[in-house]
Amino acid sequence: MIPVASRIRGFTYAIRNIVAEARKVEASGVRVRYLNIGDPIPFGFHTPPHMVEAVARAVRDGHNGYAPSVGIPAAREAVTTECVNRGMPMTADRVVITSGTSEGIELALTALAEPGDEVLVPTPTYPLYTAVLAKIGARPVFYRTDPAHGWQPDVQHLRSLVSRRTKALVVIDPNNPTGATYPADTRKALLEIADTNNLPLLADEVYADLAFDGPVAAIASHNPDAPVITFSSLSKAYLAPGWRSGWLAVGTSDRLDDVLAGIKKLADGRLCSTGPMEHALVAALNGDRSHQATFRTALRQRAVLTHERLNAIEGITSVMPSAAFYAMPKVALPAGVADEDYVLALLRETGVLCVYGSGFGADPADGFFRVVFLANPAELSEIYDLIAGFTHDFLARRGR
Ligand SMILES: Cc1ncc(COP(=O)(O)O)c(C=O)c1O
Repeated sequence: MIPVASRIRGFTYAIRNIVAEARKVEASGVRVRYLNIGDPIPFGFHTPPHMVEAVARAVRDGHNGYAPSVGIPAAREAVTTECVNRGMPMTADRVVITSGTSEGIELALTALAEPGDEVLVPTPTYPLYTAVLAKIGARPVFYRTDPAHGWQPDVQHLRSLVSRRTKALVVIDPNNPTGATYPADTRKALLEIADTNNLPLLADEVYADLAFDGPVAAIASHNPDAPVITFSSLSKAYLAPGWRSGWLAVGTSDRLDDVLAGIKKLADGRLCSTGPMEHALVAALNGDRSHQATFRTALRQRAVLTHERLNAIEGITSVMPSAAFYAMPKVALPAGVADEDYVLALLRETGVLCVYGSGFGADPADGFFRVVFLANPAELSEIYDLIAGFTHDFLARRGR
C-alpha cells in the first residue's frame, strides 16, 4: 500500500464524511433525507436569473482565459463597495476574489499560522477551520459559545485562551452551526481582544445577508482600526454554491499589510478563481437582491417550525436561530452514549441524516446535532415526526 501523509488523519469534515454511511442506508432501500449540507439548491431555491445570464454572457463573450490571480478589477470594485456599504472601510487593492469562502479561509490561515501555532476557534465551529489547521500543523484552541445564552461567545473564556502562540481569532457571525447572530456589545468585545492582542480577526460573514431581521453590518464596522479580514461568497445569500465564487477583503489597518502581501503571493500560485463566475459576482453585488428578502422570509418560517417542533420532543432542547438555515438541538443522552451513536441510529432507522455535534468540535457526550432546515415546511414536519418517534424509542431503549 502506498502511504498517505500523516496530516490526512487530522483532516476531517463530518458534513461530507457522514454521507458514506447514508449511501449504505440508501442501498438497503431506505429513503434518505439529506439534512447534512447547507445547500439551498436541492431544496428548490433558485439562483437569480440575472446571475445565470451574467455567467452565460461571460462565457459567450470569451472570458474563458485565466483571470488575474486577485480577481478582475470590476469584481474587486464590487466587493469594495459592498464592504464600505456594510461599514468596513476598504480599497480594491485589499480585495482578493476566491473560490468560495473556503479558499479565502485557507489562504488566510496559511498566510498566518506556522506549525505549532494556535488559532482561536469557536466551539461548535464550522469544521473547515479545524481541518485546514490540521493540514497546516497548527492547533485550534476552542472558545466556548453558550446555548444557555443564545449561543453567544463566552468572551471571558476567550480572553483567557490568548497566548504567545495565538495567531488569529476566528469569528463566524451569523453562525454555522448554531444559527446565532452576535449583538453589538459582543462584537465590540471580540474586536477589542483582537485589537489589543494584535491578532487578525478572521470574520466569516458568509451568512450576513441571511439574518431573519435583515442584513447585518460588517463586524469591522464597530471598530475600523482593528485588524479584520472578512470572507464571504455567492454560495448562500446568492444561491450559487456550486459556482465556487467568493472573496476576502483585508481591513485597512496597516498592521495587516504583510499578511495581505502573503495572501496575494499564495493566490498567485493557484492562478485565479473561476473566471466567468467573477463576472456573475459583479452582477450579483451590483444587481437586484430582491430574492434575498423572499429567502429570508422562507428561512424564518422554517426556523420557527423547527424550533417549535424540536422543543416539543421530550429529551430535546433547541435554541431559536436568528439567521441562516441551521439549528443545533441537544438531546439528553444517557451516560456512555455519544452524539454519533444517536445520529447514526436516527439515520439507519428513519433515513434522516443530520450531523453529530462532535463533527463541529462539541463534546460527544453533550448530545448536540445539527439540523439543516431548508426543506419545505410539509417535509420538515414529516422529518420532525420521524425524529420525535425515533428519539422517544431510542431514549427508552437506552434506559434514560
Ligand atoms: C460558516 C461557513 N463558512 C464557509 C463556508 C463555505 O462556503 P463557500 O461555499 O463560500 O466556500 C460555509 C459553508 O457551509 C459556512 O457555513
